[in-house]
Amino acid sequence: MKRWGGALLFACAALIVGGCGKQSPLSPQSPASHDIAVLWWWMLAIAAVVFFGAAGMLLIGWVRRGSPGLPFVGSNERVTMGLVLTFGIAIPVVVLVALFAVANLWLVGPTGAPARGSTSMTIRVIGHQWFWEVRYPGTAITANEIHIPARTRVQVVATTDDVIHSFWVPQLNRKIDMIPGRTNRVLLYADDPGVYRGQCAEFCGLEHAHMAMKVFAQPRKRFQAWLARIGKPAAAPASAQQRRGQRLFLSNACAGCHTIRGTSARGEIGPDLTHVASRTTLAAVTMPNTARSLRRWITDPQHIKPGVKMPALDLSDADFKAIASYLNHLR
Ligand code: CUA
Repeated sequence: MKRWGGALLFACAALIVGGCGKQSPLSPQSPASHDIAVLWWWMLAIAAVVFFGAAGMLLIGWVRRGSPGLPFVGSNERVTMGLVLTFGIAIPVVVLVALFAVANLWLVGPTGAPARGSTSMTIRVIGHQWFWEVRYPGTAITANEIHIPARTRVQVVATTDDVIHSFWVPQLNRKIDMIPGRTNRVLLYADDPGVYRGQCAEFCGLEHAHMAMKVFAQPRKRFQAWLARIGKPAAAPASAQQRRGQRLFLSNACAGCHTIRGTSARGEIGPDLTHVASRTTLAAVTMPNTARSLRRWITDPQHIKPGVKMPALDLSDADFKAIASYLNHLR
């Protein structure tokens, strides 16, 4: 009994906490997610009527358990059968069919794949175990942090490089699955500038929970300045230590997995690191991107994100320090 009580308490706490943070579909920031939220509240209201109606009838049955027949109608068999057919079959069929029809007619337009030519920009988002690769028109490539202009219709073309993932930014639109061999599309639109958290919504392996992203909706001019900067090749190292870090990066396994545009590093297994220092987080929003956490991450990634494809390299502390110093310079 105690154990069940504890489990119930935990489930309630999880539900309550689950609504916290900037990731709730119930604080919509786009027309599509607004429609989803309205539908959700309607469904909750109808479900509440059904639930409390059924609970009320159970309660009446329990209170009157000693007396024969029903209140008001007594034991007339035709009437009781009529009640069973009405409440047990007719009302559920009408309510479910109506909800299904309204939900589909209502949401197909705003949350479906955007019509051809109805968007001003297209970005490609590719799911990987366990990060998001983001490709912009032109040369800009980044990971896990998606910048879009606010109040602009952006088309996301979603694919996967390995298993099934699901791209979901709850405040901006519905989920869209990333399925091997398929291309799916979804609209990304933000009413206002801001940062909107997203999360992989399909179990994709050990680190599924650490496959988050952030969408930065920016005023158009700031977005364009960002895009121009991210499209440029990486900065050249500026100090002796950074030069040493770059040499180490290019001569070790790092370069086989990561690309740093403007250098000989052209790996495509891990995220593009050309402007890694300009990101606010590391390891798919697992930790803030500070000098200290970057060093911790490259020194022992398996400790922070067990199962991640990035191996721990056998280098000295000084070597890791030099590599971190070089990466920190890539703004
Ligand atoms: Cu990717 Cu779950």
